[in-house]
Amino acid sequence: MHIPAAHAPILFFDSGLGGLTVLGPTRALLPTAPIVYAADYAGLPYGKKSNEELAARVPALLGRLVERYQPRLAVIACNTASTIALAHVRAALDLPIVGTVPAIKPAAELTRTGVIGVLGTEATVRQPYVDDLSARFANGKTVLRHGSPGLVTGAEAKLRGEPIDPAVVERAIAGLRDQPGGDRIDVIVLACTHFPLLHDELRAAAGPGIALIDGAAGIARRIAHLTEGQIWPDTMSPGIAVFTRSDDNPPPPLAALAPYGIGAIETI
Ligand code: DGL
Repeated sequence: MHIPAAHAPILFFDSGLGGLTVLGPTRALLPTAPIVYAADYAGLPYGKKSNEELAARVPALLGRLVERYQPRLAVIACNTASTIALAHVRAALDLPIVGTVPAIKPAAELTRTGVIGVLGTEATVRQPYVDDLSARFANGKTVLRHGSPGLVTGAEAKLRGEPIDPAVVERAIAGLRDQPGGDRIDVIVLACTHFPLLHDELRAAAGPGIALIDGAAGIARRIAHLTEGQIWPDTMSPGIAVFTRSDDNPPPPLAALAPYGIGAIETI
């Protein structure tokens, strides 16, 4: 069995900054883990892309990143990329890959009304993967879905310290609530890693009596489990964030990433 060196990082991958919501709880469990956080700004937003495009783009880009940073494990911290490309990535790369899929199972355990809302990107909510999760874990329950690209833009803006339009958040919640049966939703799955960045705004728009859940803590536990017994550095060192180059979308200021333990920005 291959034993990774202490300095071998965990690679996090997302289209943008949403994967930081998975990095946060992982850092809490593995505080000295070396981190590379990769954001495909040249491809953002993934929610607007076709399955074919993402099934080709994500494994190719991850392949480049793996070659460059030699991680011990890669986390696709993006529901859109995971629901479309996880199997392709696993087939193409020879290292453990952790994916991020909508937290429909815990939502089904939590709901009392039997009506669950799934808020994701437009690409995620149309995936057969979501049909499969609903059939396996929420059988007999109603799963309503809505895709909101505005929340992705809003989450990116918030992290940069820019204002967010409250109407965008209201519209996202209304997109679920206004569907038949939507008034009975008591659990909303945040099925895009960007959305927990807007937790407070979504909480306020959803109103009382609706739980918001996401899969980040479970993914962090999975990463800790898969790396159990491996060697880590004795002290924490700042992580690297790497962005694919985009003229329209330059990397955020380092200060926005510093709370997540990122100390340097690179572009590729
Ligand atoms: N953060 C991504 C997800 O979890 C997608 C955001 C986007 O690029 O549209 O689905």
